[in-house]
Amino acid sequence: CLSMLPVLYTLGSTIYLIFLRLMNCEQFDMVFIVVAEQSLINYYSLIICSNMLKMNGVICLQNKTNPAKSSDKDETVAMKMTDIINADPRVEQVSAVPLSFKIGSQTCPRDPQPGITTDGVFWGYKRRCILDRLRLDCKVAYVTGGGQGIGRAFVHALGEAGAKVAIIDIALEKAQAVAKELEVNGIKSVAMAADVSKAEDVKRIVDSIVANWGRIDIACNNAGINMNSASEDTTLEEWDKTFNVSLRGLFMCCRIMLSQGYGKIINTASMASLIVPHPQKQLAYNTSKAGVVKLTQTPGPEWIDRGVRVSCISPGIVDTPLIHTDALKPLVQRWSNNIPAGRLARVTDLQAAVVYLASEVSDYMTGHNLVI
Ligand SMILES: NC(=O)c1ccc[n+]([C@@H]2O[C@H](COP(=O)([O-])OP(=O)(O)OC[C@H]3O[C@@H](n4cnc5c(N)ncnc54)[C@H](O)[C@@H]3O)[C@@H](O)[C@H]2O)c1
Ligand SMILES: *[C@@H]1O[C@H](CO)[C@@H](O)[C@H](O)[C@H]1NC(C)=O
Ligand SMILES: *[C@@H]1O[C@H](CO)[C@@H](O)[C@H](O)[C@H]1NC(C)=O
Ligand SMILES: *[C@@H]1O[C@H](CO)[C@@H](O)[C@H](O)[C@H]1NC(C)=O
Repeated sequence: CLSMLPVLYTLGSTIYLIFLRLMNCEQFDMVFIVVAEQSLINYYSLIICSNMLKMNGVICLQNKTNPAKSSDKDETVAMKMTDIINADPRVEQVSAVPLSFKIGSQTCPRDPQPGITTDGVFWGYKRRCILDRLRLDCKVAYVTGGGQGIGRAFVHALGEAGAKVAIIDIALEKAQAVAKELEVNGIKSVAMAADVSKAEDVKRIVDSIVANWGRIDIACNNAGINMNSASEDTTLEEWDKTFNVSLRGLFMCCRIMLSQGYGKIINTASMASLIVPHPQKQLAYNTSKAGVVKLTQTPGPEWIDRGVRVSCISPGIVDTPLIHTDALKPLVQRWSNNIPAGRLARVTDLQAAVVYLASEVSDYMTGHNLVI
């Protein structure tokens, strides 16, 4: 997804740049300037002042690394360039090997203009633009039930946003298949087998993530089962099983997060926590999901001053293997008629919500049940 523009040595390339600009082509994510004479400075100014770089775009500049081969002139230019960059508030040096500079603001520097409020809204909070603030770089996440369906989509979304993800599923081969997908996409992950209803499994998983990656920042307690039976036929065994899977996840991660003083817990509840997905028969399920909402609303405010936020996502009916059972298939058309969008949700419809709740932009909120 990088639009790259190699800048060549010739005057022709300058014309080419101006042409691109006039044709209103795009802004570039990266510009690589491979010249070391005076024109380096010209190119730099042209690119910055004509707004050719996207916000947070990168300019890579060649600095002669071999002093034996570079002329005095080159050296002077390199030093001049370094001074210019150090004095330019729009750019920030992010790496010296090779030299590269990051654009801090999209605007050309002009003298401070009267009437412009240069606060956190103008610059971006802590000088980070909104998309940067949604990023999860260096965060450690786990997703239970990550082997398929909604959990798999959450795993990908968190990974794309920069997190390392532990994919936890009762079926190890499913988790491993998702880990493979992430590897192909260049995202760090690990697949782990666990039955989240079993205390010993849960402890082993948490210990192992902390041993490997040091901490847990984002916990998606997403595994769930739906056994579908009429209320009068619901056995206590089914009740216990459903509750065991839905409602124990929170306790997996809260201790470690409280001791870190930071964490985001994101439970998967369901629209069934709020409304009646008639004519589906799922007493234990929707009661357990109503429990998930309370398990979100209660600890949320309790822990916010200790850095831990708890929220939940309540999807409507999502097209996943969960609903392709014989009991549910016949209901799909009936549901669709009652869904404003006229279709079931896709797992990709839920992905941005998990990133939002996992990122610092949502730090002010807790205890929320986000219905999608
Ligand atoms: N599909 C929907 O319409 C829908 C709607 C609202 C909420 N939800 C909820 O979203 C979550 C994910 O649903 P889905 O549709 O992706 O389900 P799914 O059945 O497609 O996937 C669930 C995954 O969880 C794993 N899992 C099951 N029990 C487990 C356990 N004890 N320990 C660890 N892993 C276990 C399964 O192996 C599977 O990979 C569930 O909590 C579900 O209740 C689903
Ligand atoms: C670029 O190279 C010059 C000369 O080799 C050196 O003095 C300067 O420190 C380099 N600039 C940076 C930012 O590393
Ligand atoms: C639910 O969990 C409890 C505690 O681990 C266990 O004793 C019970 O057997 C579980 N019930 C079912 C039906 O899985
Ligand atoms: C849960 O499901 C049952 C029957 O399937 C229904 O009667 C009940 O109203 C549902 N409750 C909620 C909150 O969805």
